[in-house]
Amino acid sequence: MSPGVWLLVLLALPPTLAVEPLSMGLAIAAASALTGLLSYPRFYCGSLVECCEDRVLNATALQVDLEQKLFGQHLAKEVILKALKSFMSNQDPKKALTLSLHGWTGTGKNFISKIIAEHVYKQGLNSKFVHLFVSAMHFPHDDQIPKYKDQLQAWIRGNVTACPRSVFIFDEMDKLHPGLIDAIKPFLDYYDEIDGVSYRKAIFVFLSNAGGDLITKVALDFWKNGKQREELQLKDVESILSVGVFNNKNSGLWHSSLIDKNLIDFFVPFLPLEYRHVKKCVTVELQSRGFEVDEDIITKVADEMTYFPKEEKIYSDKGCKTVTSKVDLVIDL
Ligand SMILES: *[C@@H]1O[C@H](CO)[C@@H](O)[C@H](O)[C@H]1NC(C)=O
Ligand SMILES: *[C@@H]1O[C@H](CO)[C@@H](O)[C@H](O)[C@H]1NC(C)=O
Repeated sequence: MSPGVWLLVLLALPPTLAVEPLSMGLAIAAASALTGLLSYPRFYCGSLVECCEDRVLNATALQVDLEQKLFGQHLAKEVILKALKSFMSNQDPKKALTLSLHGWTGTGKNFISKIIAEHVYKQGLNSKFVHLFVSAMHFPHDDQIPKYKDQLQAWIRGNVTACPRSVFIFDEMDKLHPGLIDAIKPFLDYYDEIDGVSYRKAIFVFLSNAGGDLITKVALDFWKNGKQREELQLKDVESILSVGVFNNKNSGLWHSSLIDKNLIDFFVPFLPLEYRHVKKCVTVELQSRGFEVDEDIITKVADEMTYFPKEEKIYSDKGCKTVTSKVDLVIDL
C-alpha cells in the first residue's frame, strides 16, 4: 500500500483504532523482511552463525581432496566416495549411514574422518554438528559404564533432535566397552523414529585398529605374489576381515552384535603404507610448512621411519603418523 492509501485508512478510522493498521503494517514489513532473510540461509549461516543445513555434497571436491591428501588407500577412497555420495543425495535414507574404518595406526583413518567431516560441514571437526568421541578419553572408567551409557544416548538424542544431519565419530572403537556399543545400536537400526526422533540422516563413523593385522597379511601376500597393490579389490579384503575379525572373540564383542544385524553399511580397509607413500606424506608436510620440496630431505625423513616385516621391510610400522616429528628432526640437522 502506498502512503496515500494508508493516510485514507487512518482518516477513515476512529482514533483508537487508527493505531492498528500502522502496527499491523510494521508487523507485515518485519515479517516479510524476516521471511526474506530465512529464504536465503546463506545470508546469515556463515562464519558467524553455523547452521544445521543439509549441504549438497560436492562429490568432485571430495574426490579431489581424497586424491591429493590421502596416500596408498585406493580401497578406502573408493568406498568413502561411493558411500557419502549416495547417502548425502538420498533425501529419505532408511537408516543412518554407518562406516567402520579398519587398519593399522597412521594409515589415515583419523585423517579421512576429518575429510568426511569437512565435506558435510564447512567447519569440519570444529563444527558443532560433528561429535568426536575417543574411548580412552571420554569413557575411561569401566565402573561408570551405566552413567556413560545414559549420557551418550542423551547426547545423541539431543544433538540429532537439534540437527538431523549430525556426524558422530568414535575413535578407538576396539577399546569401547560393549555396554556402550549396545547404547549406540538402536540409533543405527532401521527404525523410522525413536520417541519421535528420526536418526536416519545421521552419520556414524567407527575407527578401529582391529583387523589391521589381517589387512596387512592380505597386502603382503599380494606383494609376494608379485601383484600390484592397486589391483587389490574390496572383496579380497572384506571376506577376510569378516571371517577373521568378526568371528574372533578377542577382537571385540561389538563386531558380532552390529554385524549380525547388518547395521554397518560399509567396512573400509586401510592398507599398510609403503616407503613411497611415506615420502608423499613428507612432501605434503614440507609444503604445508612452506619449505621447498627437497628430495634429499624427503629421503632422509622416510629413512628415519621403521619398516616391517623384519625381512621384507616394506611397510612403515607407524604409517605416516610420526612424519611431523621426523621432519622436525631432519630439518634441525
Ligand atoms: C565442486 O568442487 C569443484 C572442485 O573443487 C569445484 O570446481 C566446483 O566449483 C564445486 N561445485 C560447486 C557446485 O560448488
Ligand atoms: C551434543 O553432544 C555433545 C558432545 O559432543 C554434548 O556435550 C552436548 O550436550 C550434546 N547436546 C545435546 C543437546 O544433547
